[in-house]
Amino acid sequence: MCRVSGYIGKKDALPIIMDGLRRQSYGGYDSAGVLIGDGFNLACVKAVGKLENLEKKLENQPLKGNWGLGQIRWATHGAVTEINAHPHQDCKRNIFLVHNGIIENYRDLKEQLIKEGHTFSSGTDTEVLAHLIEKYFQGNLLEEAVRRALKDVRGTYGLLVVAGNDPEKIVAARLSSPLLIGINNGEYILASDPTAIAPYARRIINLDDYEIATVSQDDLRVIKEKIPVFLEFTAEETEKGECPHFMLKEIMAQPETIENAIRGRLLFEEGAVKLGGLDSVSAQLKKINRLILIACGTANYAARIGKYMLEEYAGISAEVDVASEFRYRKPMVDEKTAVIFISQSGETADTLAALKEMKKKGVLTIGITNVVGSSMARETGSGVYIRSGPEIAVASTKAFLGQLTTLAMLTVYLGRQRNMSLVTGGRIISELSNLPEFARQVLKSAPQIEKLAKKYSEFKNFWFIGRKYNFPIALEGALKLKEISYLHAEGAAGGELKHGPLALIDENFPTIALCPSDSVYEKMISNIQEIKARGGPVLAIATEGNKEIKEIADDVIFIPKTLEMLTPMLSVIPLQLFAYYMAALLGCDIDKPRNLAKSCTVE
Ligand code: F6R
Repeated sequence: MCRVSGYIGKKDALPIIMDGLRRQSYGGYDSAGVLIGDGFNLACVKAVGKLENLEKKLENQPLKGNWGLGQIRWATHGAVTEINAHPHQDCKRNIFLVHNGIIENYRDLKEQLIKEGHTFSSGTDTEVLAHLIEKYFQGNLLEEAVRRALKDVRGTYGLLVVAGNDPEKIVAARLSSPLLIGINNGEYILASDPTAIAPYARRIINLDDYEIATVSQDDLRVIKEKIPVFLEFTAEETEKGECPHFMLKEIMAQPETIENAIRGRLLFEEGAVKLGGLDSVSAQLKKINRLILIACGTANYAARIGKYMLEEYAGISAEVDVASEFRYRKPMVDEKTAVIFISQSGETADTLAALKEMKKKGVLTIGITNVVGSSMARETGSGVYIRSGPEIAVASTKAFLGQLTTLAMLTVYLGRQRNMSLVTGGRIISELSNLPEFARQVLKSAPQIEKLAKKYSEFKNFWFIGRKYNFPIALEGALKLKEISYLHAEGAAGGELKHGPLALIDENFPTIALCPSDSVYEKMISNIQEIKARGGPVLAIATEGNKEIKEIADDVIFIPKTLEMLTPMLSVIPLQLFAYYMAALLGCDIDKPRNLAKSCTVE
């Protein structure tokens, strides 16, 4: 996904901007470009492909100066070419800009600008911004021209603009695409993602929608006053360290993910939880009788598990929808409905759009997100941070665990407002506090899972099945495998097999069956028998101490016994590792799978 980076200060700008791009590149991109300013001179270099290609070009064409900007592009409008790479420029090569977002009305704007005599060189939507700013930049200040130009624009932007004839200044603007400014003793670091700022500044300003900031060597002006907050993670947390991939590092960090999510929030004596971000809406939440959980992808599977938890233990009717569907249907909501939005990044366009729809209807909205100060956090006003730390691999793993931990806590929070007893609340939170240790035990199976991945790597198609709390885990296991290994994988509810999927089963179509010792165990065993009767290989995820399963399934990975509602937090770990080792065996680009972006900030 597109990301921007900028710097102005006393240092050499290029290494800082390039580092900013590299740190944000985990989301996937297909071209890159930088521009460096030195007095009135602006010099720009672009390249298609990886940042290394840009670096090679920069070796022959070094750029010197202490201000500038850069971008990594993930093509939406216009092919992957050097001309379409950012920065884009106006007719006079005076104004340059980098952009993250989409200009929805670019066709009309372009047509009008061409009529007015502007010449376009790229096939992108972004280039209209450069010409629009040129149109309004008539000897006045650059920030004034940007402000005027953005009035004509419909769409989304995280935008950095510079001009040769108004030098040593960067104008930054935001609407529905993240944009941050790091502040460090007379220097400013601009980026779409806080990971690019962490090594250089500890204080940041998160631009709000419609805000325009003007940054020069000794000055930062934002149209609305903002209060800096401190970054919650260190630069080390954004490095791979000894791990070959971020994904493996993030899978292995999951015991700590749970610890971080529950820290200071479990009230053992009261059998309750404290979620400070819900204090302001606690009275309103007491009156709610229906919840809608909205999210995309992996976060949506967490929501589906949350639904089971909330209905079974908090006694509130809960439904789940994918954000891209919810935003376009006409959901029936009233003052007794609360809508919970779940997003690791807090920047997913579909989820944010659904959130804005609900806010318009005046419904109580709650956010569950990882990124502090993200659009979702700011739009919802109340919610819970999952505290998982930066998740860099495109495939979400530890954030999923953070979301499930948070949903379990939310269940106790809402349940204790209703009919949940102190004993039940106490049992859930005490088991939650045991989970980090249980997760460590599951991670010890990594070598066994690596061997199983070798055995199963001869197959090209996989079923994942589960029931009740583990049905969404079947969907998540299939998603993890397909997104990073490009193998065909499907997830299904065990009870649905006989309604169609069974037709595919033969000795070449293995099934990963989630069958912990829970209330649907017997049913799952029947499903496994149905598969075995048709010659299908079965790899089971079962509870330690289960002797029967070894006789039925071909292979078994054991997880510790825990409460049924918490089993997904353990059963998902072997599936994440299975997907990881399969992808590693197949030589895939694990952290940046093809065609995918970490945070989908466009629809
Ligand atoms: C899959 C994955 C995606 C995200 C989805 C939502 O591994 O990472 O399916 O879960 O794009 O992203 P967030 O949670 O940032 O809204």
